[in-house]
Amino acid sequence: MNNWSHRVADIESFKVMDLLKRAKELDAQGHDVVHMCAGEPDFATPAPIAAAGIAAIQEGHTQYTPAAGIPPLREAIASFYQQRYGLDIPAERVIVTAGASGALLLVFATLANPGQTFMMADPGYPCNPRFLRLLEARGQLVPVTAADNYQLTPDLIEQHWQANTAGVLLASPSNPTGSVVHREQLELIAQTVKSHAGRLVVDELYHGLTYGFDATSVLSVDQDAFVLNSFSKYFGMTGWRLGWTVVPEAAAPEVERLAQNLFISPPTIAQYAALAAFQPDTLEILEQRREAFKERRDILVKGLRSLGFGIPLTPEGAFYVYADASRFTDNTFDFCWTLLEQDKVAVTPGIDFGDYQANRYIRFSYTTSVAQIETALARLRARLS
Ligand SMILES: Cc1ncc(COP(=O)(O)O)c(C=O)c1O
Repeated sequence: MNNWSHRVADIESFKVMDLLKRAKELDAQGHDVVHMCAGEPDFATPAPIAAAGIAAIQEGHTQYTPAAGIPPLREAIASFYQQRYGLDIPAERVIVTAGASGALLLVFATLANPGQTFMMADPGYPCNPRFLRLLEARGQLVPVTAADNYQLTPDLIEQHWQANTAGVLLASPSNPTGSVVHREQLELIAQTVKSHAGRLVVDELYHGLTYGFDATSVLSVDQDAFVLNSFSKYFGMTGWRLGWTVVPEAAAPEVERLAQNLFISPPTIAQYAALAAFQPDTLEILEQRREAFKERRDILVKGLRSLGFGIPLTPEGAFYVYADASRFTDNTFDFCWTLLEQDKVAVTPGIDFGDYQANRYIRFSYTTSVAQIETALARLRARLS
């Protein structure tokens, strides 16, 4: 008897999963697949963090922690805001979560009532509307283009605001476009959202992975915003499942109460490991990796442009290039399958990130070495010329 809930029936899978499965099969058959699908760094967790994790197990830190996280980690995250952004954030506003995924669920559950919407850019991170669906709310997808810097703008927010809009979600840098909302624009967006008495949530997951500059946290311009962040990307800890949210003071007890009920606590060993994430030796490793990502981005963007892919704006952050492949195909889903089967290059079709012109786009992740990126470019060249 398959009487599953409507909620679960409405949640779509990642379309790329079948592609990934096939890429793994090809690997197992001995094919040399270039993997540019993954949304995670290819680098292992930095050694000081791994060592702190091992020590945590050996010292017996294996039980539940407070729901909002261990106090020293909340303090360390708060201090990081001082160090990186010059911001004074009390540790009580920091709630440690099971990845940004845990933070997304907590924040949306705190802010969205059934029937309400959160406005967000299309293309964007596909799980966002699904979290809202789970809460009987909805993601309100607004198409964005290169002319909008692939981000919601104050005008777009104004145009699309509805009576049931609870707020706006930005992701800066964005997955899949790598575009960044800069300080002035953040200020204007914060004002626009406030003028409608809405809530602003900013996913700052790819902070630290911007190239040539540091991104502005929304907390520099709006203390009422909710911030999502994670140890997954910049800190190279995807599998440890640890993130955090910074919430306004009044929201902290609400979010904490939800966290107690939903998760009991974030992963304990990961929290002790993450205490080493802000040490100077760790940050030095992370900054070297950031340089490596920048080099990869530059090579990939230049190479794809020379092949005829449309990349009107150089992505400023994250580790993705969202390239317009309409010169070569009107169906990037099929095109990605061909690339995988025939050329052994694994990339993600636009359809995984929304509806708007999705069939024109491909997301390339530069979470692989320069040598592998060069190989992928050579294989693309052979196919397209
Ligand atoms: C924009 C964005 N937000 C949130 C997440 C969730 O990340 P995690 O739960 O690993 O912190 C991802 C993962 O790829 C992402 O790209």
